[in-house]
Amino acid sequence: MDVWLRSDRLLVRDWAVTDAPAAFAVYGSEDVAQWLTPEMQQVPDDTAMRSVLEAWVEAQPNLQPPTGRWAVVRREDDEIVGGVALRLLPPYDEDIEISWQLRPDAWGQGYAKESATMLMRWAFTQDIDELFAVARPDNTRAVATARRLGMEWVGETDKYYGQRLQVFRIRPGDLD
Ligand SMILES: CC(C)(COP(=O)(O)OP(=O)(O)OC[C@H]1O[C@@H](n2cnc3c(N)ncnc32)[C@H](O)[C@@H]1OP(=O)(O)O)[C@@H](O)C(=O)NCCC(=O)NCCS
Repeated sequence: MDVWLRSDRLLVRDWAVTDAPAAFAVYGSEDVAQWLTPEMQQVPDDTAMRSVLEAWVEAQPNLQPPTGRWAVVRREDDEIVGGVALRLLPPYDEDIEISWQLRPDAWGQGYAKESATMLMRWAFTQDIDELFAVARPDNTRAVATARRLGMEWVGETDKYYGQRLQVFRIRPGDLD
């Protein structure tokens, strides 16, 4: 589904294959990749990033809304600062996870909260009533972002990726 969301500072839009160099600054970063789920490894170079984006762009129209992957663009300079995604959590493919990744020089400015907030607002117009976020217990920045978003801690589990993960949940009434 083609999504175009706008806040004061950011846009959330579909990825394009030509975004590869900017996306590599996010997904090629060790500081980001160390926290990604097992299905997404650190991207080694621009060429590999292009292949990843080709797969994302091809898959996007066939995904059941609200799932998908989007770029986060800073409106001030039109720079991609990160990505946000809504995906079914394996292995049961019932719960929808929201995840966020920012290139390290864009951390600490509230961009994850701002982009995730608008994506969640849109997601809740798509006939769903809850979203989850999962984070490794030592991923303090991700846990802090989940809490800032108004997500509720619901426990720890290893059911999703075979890793011990903190689980957070949000429902439409919890949005600011
Ligand atoms: C998780 C991640 C997205 C968090 O980035 P972040 O910039 O800390 O996220 P937030 O949007 O919540 O920003 C909050 C910070 O911005 C600051 N901030 C500055 N200006 C702000 C503004 N206008 N509005 C809100 N917060 C602002 C806050 O004070 C806070 O600072 P602090 O970290 O010093 O306390 C980032 O660390 C990342 O990409 N990590 C790797 C990938 C990952 O772990 N993803 C999560 C699992 S999927």
